[in-house]
Amino acid sequence: MALTVWFLFSGCGGRDAELPARYRRLKVPDGLLASAAARTRGRTLFRQHCAICHGVRGDGRGIRSEGLDPAPMDFTNPRWRESVARRRVFYWIRNGVPGTAMPAWRIFDDGETWDLVAYVLSAGQS
Ligand code: HEC
Repeated sequence: MALTVWFLFSGCGGRDAELPARYRRLKVPDGLLASAAARTRGRTLFRQHCAICHGVRGDGRGIRSEGLDPAPMDFTNPRWRESVARRRVFYWIRNGVPGTAMPAWRIFDDGETWDLVAYVLSAGQS
């Protein structure tokens, strides 16, 4: 298990390393991220709060996405899912992405934020 985790995240070390210490130390809940229940909870929140820009399926084609520069990411692209660090996704949702239309989502607690991470990392797979 430890080896698997090391293998999964070794490629993303640089990007985790740039995060503020509090986020670098976050324990990534691998079991939760893989669970259907978390993905379903995340999908419900995503449809309420995020789909307007990111699209109902997370493909970046929400009704408010037109004209956004940069445009919302296509979360259904496996290359995005495979290359992105989990803590990074958590950090972006909590704090927003400077210089883009992506706001900070402080209204969600850690559990809800991880549910959203679980959903965006599985978008397009089910
Ligand atoms: C007002 C439009 C808008 C809303 C609402 C919105 N986003 Fe974003 N989001 C963006 C834009 C624009 C970006 C920057 C381009 C990008 O990185 O996808 C972004 C970036 C992101 C990223 C970083 C992706 C990356 O690899 O760069 C994540 C993750 C994300 N949003 C998740 C969410 C979640 C989860 C919600 C709902 C809680 C949400 N967004 C709501 C517009 C929005």
